[in-house]
Amino acid sequence: MGSVVLRTGQRMPLVGLGTWQAAPEEVERAVEAALEAGYRLFDTAFNYNNEEAIGNTLKRWIEAGKVEREDLFIVTKLPHIGNRASDVPKYLDKSLKRLQLSYIDLYLVHMPFGFIPDATGDVPAINADGSFVLDLKTDHNAVWKAMEEQVDAGKTKAIGISNFNISQMERLIVNSRIHPANLQVEMHAYLQQKELRIFCETNGIVVTAYSPLGSPGAKQHWQKKYNYSPENFPDLLGHPAVQQIADAHDRTPAQILLRHLVQQHIVVIPKSTSPERIKQNFKIFDFELTPEEMEILNNLDHGEQGRILDFGFFKGVENHPEYPFKGTKKDTHNAVNNVFSSEEKQVAKPLNALCVQNV
Ligand SMILES: NC(=O)c1ccc[n+]([C@@H]2O[C@H](COP(=O)([O-])OP(=O)(O)OC[C@H]3O[C@@H](n4cnc5c(N)ncnc54)[C@H](OP(=O)(O)O)[C@@H]3O)[C@@H](O)[C@H]2O)c1
Repeated sequence: MGSVVLRTGQRMPLVGLGTWQAAPEEVERAVEAALEAGYRLFDTAFNYNNEEAIGNTLKRWIEAGKVEREDLFIVTKLPHIGNRASDVPKYLDKSLKRLQLSYIDLYLVHMPFGFIPDATGDVPAINADGSFVLDLKTDHNAVWKAMEEQVDAGKTKAIGISNFNISQMERLIVNSRIHPANLQVEMHAYLQQKELRIFCETNGIVVTAYSPLGSPGAKQHWQKKYNYSPENFPDLLGHPAVQQIADAHDRTPAQILLRHLVQQHIVVIPKSTSPERIKQNFKIFDFELTPEEMEILNNLDHGEQGRILDFGFFKGVENHPEYPFKGTKKDTHNAVNNVFSSEEKQVAKPLNALCVQNV
């Protein structure tokens, strides 16, 4: 299995199990199947409401001596309703309790915008028109200081961010004592985020690609949970070029999409609750895509048009001053054109690896 080394010195596996939309009863079995298959990186979040189930399986494996805690890499996230300094220790403690762990390996600020929680403290408050109650005072520097204190307290080994844009990261880095070790963002063949990757490489931040398969389950999930249905929902797994490359290697389209990213030293966290697909998604280190195949996949980049998760399902989120995706379509296009020559735009580059093994 390949891995990258974070600025903290921790080794982070290049493939992990995603768990968004995985209900507790299914995720407990999925983590079991993933551990059997060799996964050691698990990605969850306070918001996914499945930390306890994940913790149950981890605990069973650790207590049975089947895995050492030090060999696991557990990621969880500060929720949007906890995006204020005083709430950071509170939500991290809740996650640790649910996961039944004394520390986690990487704690991420899940989203740059903040919501006000409802009376339960576990979900966002909603306005009469169905929009989310925004916390307009979100202060990244104050939140980050509290994140740094969690490292000092030994409750997490590393800290990072998710869904932040470049200018938000710039502000954070200038004011931080402990720099972010990891950025988790949407990334796949249709949204390759080259400018963001260069920024991360320059600043020693390892990138994790979420929704690496194009999140095929998300549309149904949003419809059911938020009555939200975006017009265009891409089908990456069904793209003829992906299928063709899969046939050439006798692999699945999912394996091709994942290999395309890990071959560029980007961490991937595909979600599955099917034992068969969990195994499949992990078997991507015994073949290599040719430069020509990488080029074909690189050329599937749609820039901002390829973004699936713009958080439109949180009604009104675009009115938050820290909503990250405003105007990025144009900016990204210009910046990519400036940074790459036309030849470079065609060629895959190992952008974010500080140190890589066995890719
Ligand atoms: N930081 C953030 O804001 C954020 C946002 C989104 C996601 N994430 C993280 O990233 C993880 C992955 O992203 P994602 O869940 O959005 O999407 P994804 O991993 O791109 O896609 C998951 C979907 O693909 C299906 N699938 C998995 N393997 C497959 C295969 N080999 N062939 C065909 N279909 C397959 C899964 O169904 P089955 O389960 O039925 O196999 C599921 O519906 C999440 O689970 C979460 O941990 C983070």
